[in-house]
Amino acid sequence: MRIDRYLSETTGMSRKEASKVLHRGEVTLDGEVVKKGAVQVPSAGLVEWNGVTLERLGPTYILFHKPLGCICANDDPRHPTVFVYLDLPNPEKFHTVGRLDLDTSGLLLVTNDGQWSHRITSPKHACEKVYRAQLADPISEEAVEKFAAGIKLHGDVALTKPAKLTIVNEREALVTLSEGRYHQVRRMFAAVGNKVEGLHREQVGELTLGDLEPGEYRHLSAEEVALF
Ligand code: URA
Repeated sequence: MRIDRYLSETTGMSRKEASKVLHRGEVTLDGEVVKKGAVQVPSAGLVEWNGVTLERLGPTYILFHKPLGCICANDDPRHPTVFVYLDLPNPEKFHTVGRLDLDTSGLLLVTNDGQWSHRITSPKHACEKVYRAQLADPISEEAVEKFAAGIKLHGDVALTKPAKLTIVNEREALVTLSEGRYHQVRRMFAAVGNKVEGLHREQVGELTLGDLEPGEYRHLSAEEVALF
């Protein structure tokens, strides 16, 4: 890879800024000052900017406990994004695997591997996600049947895929979905005349949050990555 691209990928600076930094003689490759952006960085090359090593992140997989009040986006003018919580050298290269609403907490995966995230979000792969929902009104047995049969959501053509609704107590339930439509859990409960007052994602496939507190994260193991 060209060294100007390497600089912009590892620091987030633009290619123009990278050229300036190079021109000022601030960058070394294996200890030698490099001034030309076209110079190739070999795979084991050591790049330093003002003496600080710039490490390129390969495919990276993060399990994050999303707190309430942050948004699943790379930039937002009004709310903190989930990336505020993640210590990444190049956050603009990352994306969230699906989205949780501003007022939803729970398990969120973050990666820079688009093919991997597609396997989790694509309805074709039917990866199950489990949500715990607090409801405004008592949950009816009829809702359980409707969730299982599929629901016609306002504005959507196809029925929702069969979903499992497990009543925990009068106003709390677990919902297992194998697709991820916009505001799906909230819209499904609205369609059966109820209202979600609290929503938390507990599980994606076999992954759970374990001991992670809101705002904490960890990297997935190779075995966990291979689950999808
Ligand atoms: N369904 C919703 O309605 N909101 C979420 O954040 C996730 C699933």
